[in-house]
Amino acid sequence: MWFRKRSLWLVMLVLALALALAACGGQAEEAPAAAEPAQQEEAAPATEAPQAEETEATQAEATEEMAEATEEAQEETGEQDLVALGKELFHQNPLGQNAGCVTCHSTEPGVQLVGPSLAGIATTAAERVDGMSAEDYIRQSILEPNAYTVEGFPEGLMPAYTDLTPEQVDALVAYLMTLK
Ligand code: HEC
Repeated sequence: MWFRKRSLWLVMLVLALALALAACGGQAEEAPAAAEPAQQEEAAPATEAPQAEETEATQAEATEEMAEATEEAQEETGEQDLVALGKELFHQNPLGQNAGCVTCHSTEPGVQLVGPSLAGIATTAAERVDGMSAEDYIRQSILEPNAYTVEGFPEGLMPAYTDLTPEQVDALVAYLMTLK
């Protein structure tokens, strides 16, 4: 076995050497003329293609970024509109079938009217009920005020604002969430 393997290697080595010699001799004469144009042809598209792809990719990225920025700006304006509407509703009196929020709530710290001051309510709301987000607590306070009664205040005093549209409730929540 070993013998055969070795002779095979030898044959291959000799063949390889012969090929290498032949190749060198041949190339020395022909290579410069034949290789040059081929290289140029190959080189040109090779450098162009990635550049084109890159430009396209950069353009696509830029367009995508712009679209995202516009979307964000629109979302922000939407959010600002909602907050502005909420602020307006909060100060409206009456509001739907009930007295306006401002009748009973101040947004100044420490100013207690019929209900507690809502200054910093976004922060307080997050701590009122375990596992309930600030938004959810504020929403619940508006729609089901008796679900949680703030200590020191009588239950049933705040009316449930169930005649407001979902958008109006969203707006009030968005506005109160800015009172941090
Ligand atoms: C008639 C008076 C009255 C009106 C009008 C009223 N509230 Fe209240 N509100 C209260 C009282 C009293 C409490 C505290 C007792 C309770 O938790 O129900 C309260 C509690 C709250 C709380 C919880 C505060 C906290 O610290 O946890 C929020 C939020 C709230 N009101 C929002 C509103 C909003 C928004 C409006 C208008 C849509 C409104 N209230 C209208 C009397 C009122």
